[in-house]
Amino acid sequence: MKTLIAFSTTHGCTEKTSQELKEYFDGEVELINLKSDRNPKLEKFNRVIIGGSIHAGQVQKRVKEFCSKNINELKLKELGLFICCMEPGETGQKQLLDAYPEELHQVAKSVAVFGGEFDFEKMNFLEKIVVKKVAKVKKTTSKVDHEAIRIFSKRMDKVFNPFLFLV
Ligand SMILES: Cc1cc2nc3c(=O)[nH]c(=O)nc-3n(C[C@H](O)[C@H](O)[C@H](O)COP(=O)(O)O)c2cc1C
Repeated sequence: MKTLIAFSTTHGCTEKTSQELKEYFDGEVELINLKSDRNPKLEKFNRVIIGGSIHAGQVQKRVKEFCSKNINELKLKELGLFICCMEPGETGQKQLLDAYPEELHQVAKSVAVFGGEFDFEKMNFLEKIVVKKVAKVKKTTSKVDHEAIRIFSKRMDKVFNPFLFLV
């Protein structure tokens, strides 16, 4: 099984969670930052996992472009979709739904919100002001959901056995 994890990150959290996810998989796993490689060759992978993060309600444009440009090929893969974000509950789930095309949600084997972090070391002046004002957070905070990453990996590895319906 060859796996591609194609991600986009603004402050590094989605890269870190992609690396954490990678550790769960056997076989060859390639991590690609869509910022440095917008057109990874998909034909060599059986499994493709896409990750992006939410800023002002939206996933990165390059994640959207990657999905729409490759939608037909992606539908034929074992597909996983995730986002990093700080909004919990329904808002987080809505952002996840909006981040990827409906057609990909329908065929994805695993879909999840991995939580996120506010990293004040990486934010610019304006971002710090926005986060302090809107989220009322004043220092670096991590809410990465490590359990969600583990469960996501288990779902990706689950083998569908049609004969189980017969017993
Ligand atoms: C300026 C700014 C805006 C953000 N907007 C949202 C948002 O609309 N919804 C949300 O759930 N999280 C929001 N976040 C939190 C990010 O999704 C979180 O920091 C995430 O871990 C970023 O991942 P990255 O480091 O891979 O870019 C925002 C963070 C920043 C700094």
